[in-house]
Amino acid sequence: MFAATVLAAMRAQDRRRFLPPEVAGEHHRDAPLPIGFGQTNSQPSTVAAMLTLLETFPGMRVLDVGSGSGWTSALLGELGGPESSVHAVELVPELVERARAALTQPWVQVHHARPGVLGLPELGPFDRILVSAMARELPGDLIDQLGDGGVMVAPWRDVMHRVRITDGAMEITEHGGYRFVPLRDTRF
Ligand SMILES: C[S@@+](CC[C@H](N)C(=O)[O-])C[C@H]1O[C@@H](n2cnc3c(N)ncnc32)[C@H](O)[C@@H]1O
Repeated sequence: MFAATVLAAMRAQDRRRFLPPEVAGEHHRDAPLPIGFGQTNSQPSTVAAMLTLLETFPGMRVLDVGSGSGWTSALLGELGGPESSVHAVELVPELVERARAALTQPWVQVHHARPGVLGLPELGPFDRILVSAMARELPGDLIDQLGDGGVMVAPWRDVMHRVRITDGAMEITEHGGYRFVPLRDTRF
């Protein structure tokens, strides 16, 4: 059900390292875990399902929206390898700093979300976009950051979606119901 490459990446990048000390002992639980500031480190089976849908290959340019603890960014860095570039973006400044401290791959960078901007349009287009927070609708701003042949995996309206762009045409498929913290409006 989950891609072998994703399971190998999860073995290589220990979830425990990305958790705050008070919940690190629960790293083996298949449940979201609190990382402070009202945010969570996502449930491992959900992360595995999303990364399997995303199909990230070595050398790709990847955007990780809502990097939180930094764990998904590290997993994307593992899947993309040293020839890839993974750009993660996070709204909570303290989580940006914590993720930067936990990450060890130089090709993975964590950015502060900028007011009024969703994603990192100045660094696009991306081959893959992972969104780990619940949008109200298809996040069109992120579609604009997806290159041709690109894939985005994102939840909106409580359903996981996969969006693929081929020759400028958009194909959207649905992949079951999920719960996430909300994708917040960056116009703060
Ligand atoms: C489910 S949590 C973290 C998931 C993360 N992949 C992990 O496993 O630690 C989602 C994150 O999205 C962040 N977030 C929400 N809206 C955002 C936005 N518009 N831009 C960037 N980050 C956002 C939240 O602050 C939160 O840290």
